[in-house]
Amino acid sequence: MYPLKNRHSFAIDVFAKQLTEIRSLADLALIKWSNDTYILGEGTNTIFTENFEGQLLLNRITGIEIQETREGWHVFAAAGENWHQLVVSLIEQGIYGSENLALIPGSVGAAPVQNIGAYGVEVARFIDRVDVYDCKLHVETSLSHEECQFSYRDSLFKKPDHRHWLITGVHFFFPKAWQPVLDYPDLATLPTDTTAKEILAHVIQVRQRKLPDPQRVPNAGSFFKNSVVSSAKCQQLRQKFPQLPYYEQPDGSCKLAAGWLIDQAGLKSYVVGGAGVHSQQALVLVNRDHASGQDVLQLAEGIQAQVKQRYGIQLEAEVRLLNGTGLINP
Ligand code: EPU
Repeated sequence: MYPLKNRHSFAIDVFAKQLTEIRSLADLALIKWSNDTYILGEGTNTIFTENFEGQLLLNRITGIEIQETREGWHVFAAAGENWHQLVVSLIEQGIYGSENLALIPGSVGAAPVQNIGAYGVEVARFIDRVDVYDCKLHVETSLSHEECQFSYRDSLFKKPDHRHWLITGVHFFFPKAWQPVLDYPDLATLPTDTTAKEILAHVIQVRQRKLPDPQRVPNAGSFFKNSVVSSAKCQQLRQKFPQLPYYEQPDGSCKLAAGWLIDQAGLKSYVVGGAGVHSQQALVLVNRDHASGQDVLQLAEGIQAQVKQRYGIQLEAEVRLLNGTGLINP
């Protein structure tokens, strides 16, 4: 049995029966895919709620290539590279664009899966292509930006039919015509001539202040997604709760700050066993003290029930929750 406590940032003390590190395409050729196979990066968005009886594949393929053109930089990063280290190295080399996405935990390969986003920027904006390996058919393929079907914290890679596609690398394009993105409230105080390096430092500072460091307080970032509702539902809620932060979406729908909903429902001090809501950011659940998987599931269900009752909104998990054989929330 392989310990999983140090292989996922929520650090539940459980084990995996089979674990294979993937370092190259040659390693992938040997994989026998089964329905209980799960692909793991750095484990910062996955919570193992019990011992995992299936086959775990750890994506550890590394390598970075950069090509400069007149318009910008084509950057290829293998899936097992660390996302934040890539961001820092790009900004240091004068390749700008990803600065708002600094300090997001996890690997490059996980970035397109849930289309990581922060402070007004989503990674999809820079993704040209994603290289994948079909672990069932044993063929390599590459998907265009459009084929990846990116949306808010979602992509084709999350769909149940595509679970056997292991992302081997991501092709990014960062244009030389760079513009800072400073619309998000946390960045709105920065002057319009702020440099990418200054944004990087500011984002790191904001995240360190607001979000718990998984090394000290185990967590998996935002546990729930922000809720997307119709504009009618949004208006109805705003009449009752005028302070509710919301963001109008291009399609007319409305994204509501789920952290605010949980916070204002008085749930910041909510604890079940060793699991609890983070005191500075209610969208983040934390492993306070040797939480069990059941503690986490009960806490999440309790929050969902109270939010549903108070606002009529069904919160959807953003993290990927696993039981003994696979995803609980596919
Ligand atoms: N808020 C509260 N109380 C709380 C938490 C938030 O009132 O306990 C309010 C804030 O004051 C703010 C609003 O809710 O007005 C939004 O909060 P915040 O800016 O902290 O961002 P978020 O919507 O809760 C999202 C992402 C984060 C990302 C931040 C910044 C999701 C699910 N989460 O959180 O991403 O860092 O925006 O862009 O979209 C992650 O995905 O793991 C993650 C941390």
